[in-house]
Amino acid sequence: MAAWDAIVVGAGAAGMMAAIEAGKRGRRVLVLDHSQRIGRKILISGGGRCNFTNIGARAENYLSANPHFAKSVLARYTPRDFIALVEKHRIAYHEKTLGQLFCDGSAQQIVTLLEREAAEAGVTIQADTAVQEVQHGDSFTLRTNRGDFHASALVIATGGLSIPKIGATGFGYDIARQFGLRVRDLRPGLVPLVFNPDDTKRWCDLTGLSTEVVAYAGKRSFREKLLITHRGISGPAVLQISSYWQPGSALRFDIAPGKKVLEALQASPSGRETTALRQALYAALPQRFADRWITTHPQQKWSNAALEASEQALHQWEIIPAGTEGYEKAEVTAGGVDTDDLDAKTMQARNVPGLFFIGEVVDVTGWLGGYNFQWAWASGAAAGRAL
Ligand code: FDA
Repeated sequence: MAAWDAIVVGAGAAGMMAAIEAGKRGRRVLVLDHSQRIGRKILISGGGRCNFTNIGARAENYLSANPHFAKSVLARYTPRDFIALVEKHRIAYHEKTLGQLFCDGSAQQIVTLLEREAAEAGVTIQADTAVQEVQHGDSFTLRTNRGDFHASALVIATGGLSIPKIGATGFGYDIARQFGLRVRDLRPGLVPLVFNPDDTKRWCDLTGLSTEVVAYAGKRSFREKLLITHRGISGPAVLQISSYWQPGSALRFDIAPGKKVLEALQASPSGRETTALRQALYAALPQRFADRWITTHPQQKWSNAALEASEQALHQWEIIPAGTEGYEKAEVTAGGVDTDDLDAKTMQARNVPGLFFIGEVVDVTGWLGGYNFQWAWASGAAAGRAL
């Protein structure tokens, strides 16, 4: 007989939730993690305050090859369910913006919540244990740096490739492939973008400047802040749109959303010169950005048609990024274990009874704003209830 009913690999958000739910149902659960501390990504999340959910989380807020897959799991463990847990542990929180809930204090409170719930549910957690290999016969055998472990069920909650320096590995994808599950192409998501060399020369000395934009990739758009960095662009609008960006393609930005910047100039036949143009741009954009815009987009003609073209340029700034800042800076990994190979209610592999994949390792990637943790809680709970 296997020593454990279930072993969860990965003591992050998803793995801890799965273990807690299974433990509450009387299952003997062991959680293994190769890090010294559990929940390291939770600790660095949300600027140290953990944006632990989004009250509006729905399947529409996620990228996946199957956009319907997340519906069932998200419906059966909602933001309300996690908020109830936060309130049970008397953790003060606030809504920052757009439904994003953060701890008033620190992200450590969320890790402590998970540790307490796990202890109450009788879950055993063993840190500093790297799972190196998995074998499957009547049960699952895990070979680790601390010996072998056996379990009837195995939950892979090892997350994605982002932030390797705090323990991210491709282990979950390797296990998926070993058991014949497909893995959708992986790429950094919610990641700053790097300018091409020309745009670097044009813009990067404005590092730190931020302005509200609407960022577009195809039909998808986000109205939030864009930030110029020393290598390219970041800020919430850019992070959001980066998940939809295809390398080599153009992104479009409306840098004066909802404004008719040159309306007054167009209405008046006199006074059409650079000083008036500068004043009009100052009213809509940060001054340094406006000055640079005039240099990079010199107004050659002052006809109505030329002014209209300039107005349009402000609403359709096109950039072809050279690339992304990669997994070192990405908040998530887009792509992952193919949802077609998983049961949408339990997260169990369709062809391998007892094997589950949850959290970021799965091809379900949330927007910025608490959606990724909500997916981790919900997919973890789904597996935990099925173990
Ligand atoms: P997670 O990566 O959390 O956990 C995986 C665990 O598996 C790790 O503990 C790792 O050590 C372990 N592991 C890996 N390989 C192993 C092996 N071979 N053996 C044993 N253990 C192994 N999301 C959000 O909703 N709100 C937010 O505020 C933020 N903020 C944020 C900031 C930053 C800087 C980053 C990088 C990310 C965010 N995110 C976020 C995203 C969020 O952190 C992420 O989606 C979840 O942590 C994913 O949870 P998982 O449990 O799936 O993986």
